[in-house]
Amino acid sequence: MNHADINFDEELDRGAESYEDKVGHWWNERALDDAHADAYQKVADHVQKITKDKDAPIIIDYACGNGILAGMIFRRIPNAIIIAIDGSSMMIEKAKKQLEEAGFPVAMKNIQEAFGCEKGIYLCKEKLPDFDFPEGKADVVVFNFPNIVPHEDEQDYYDKHGYKDPEDTVVAKELSELQDTEDENDDSDPEDDFDDMLTKKVITRNLRQLLKCHGFLVKVDYANGEREEYTDVVLIRTEFEEGVLNRQVAGIVSKQLFTLLDTKYFESEVILDVYHQTGDEDDKEGGYFISTFKTI
Ligand SMILES: C[S@@+](CC[C@H](N)C(=O)[O-])C[C@H]1O[C@@H](n2cnc3c(N)ncnc32)[C@H](O)[C@@H]1O
Repeated sequence: MNHADINFDEELDRGAESYEDKVGHWWNERALDDAHADAYQKVADHVQKITKDKDAPIIIDYACGNGILAGMIFRRIPNAIIIAIDGSSMMIEKAKKQLEEAGFPVAMKNIQEAFGCEKGIYLCKEKLPDFDFPEGKADVVVFNFPNIVPHEDEQDYYDKHGYKDPEDTVVAKELSELQDTEDENDDSDPEDDFDDMLTKKVITRNLRQLLKCHGFLVKVDYANGEREEYTDVVLIRTEFEEGVLNRQVAGIVSKQLFTLLDTKYFESEVILDVYHQTGDEDDKEGGYFISTFKTI
């Protein structure tokens, strides 16, 4: 599926439905190239490293797509219980087919059943975020190349689960109004920034809720450069979204959900996923971060 034939803004506004056709076909091709294969291997190696002391870790692949990463992780940790969740039937069916063909022990389950299962890969078709999932059960949650854009009908759900948190609202408002004097091309709209920060923070709350105390979140994000190159404004907004901010803003220290243990940048052509969506020439350069967070 040629990216030029897709109106990404329109398609992604469909929320969890967005990967059911054109965008899903586009992703299925993108995920198969060498750059993605290399990234998945690095992520799977990293997950193996951080779970080396666990006998049968419970690992959630949050928005798992077509299951390539889940398979790579299982190959490295064959005692793992991998719960791979995605809101798109196209992605889940593709994952089932690919994983079965490759010989993995894979089954479709509802989320409650999946947590009671023995080692294997369990695919769950569920819209994310979901705050009714069993809490505090996962050793690791992997959130790889996230692209969750809520549908407008979901705003009430987001409001109920932290978007309207009084302290976060004050902090996000203050951060959205900061002038990014280090970025001469900054033409962002404070209202969009405010919405973006609070929306991402709700997802962070959901990731945190799934994890055990001392569990790990492995987050793989597209990036145009090293974290050290972030401007101060971008850094503090990112820390807020990630739930790691531990500085006072507008007289408030927001509740910290994670500590950031480590983040590594890899230059990679996976950044073209972003270029396809934005059409911005700057998004032809970059790669991704693998960041590890520990629950507080
Ligand atoms: C860019 S793909 C990444 C897939 C996978 N993590 C990977 O790295 O290959 C984004 C995935 O998020 C899923 N997704 C987007 N919005 C969602 C939502 N609201 N609920 C559940 N899944 C969603 C899509 O179906 C898609 O599979």
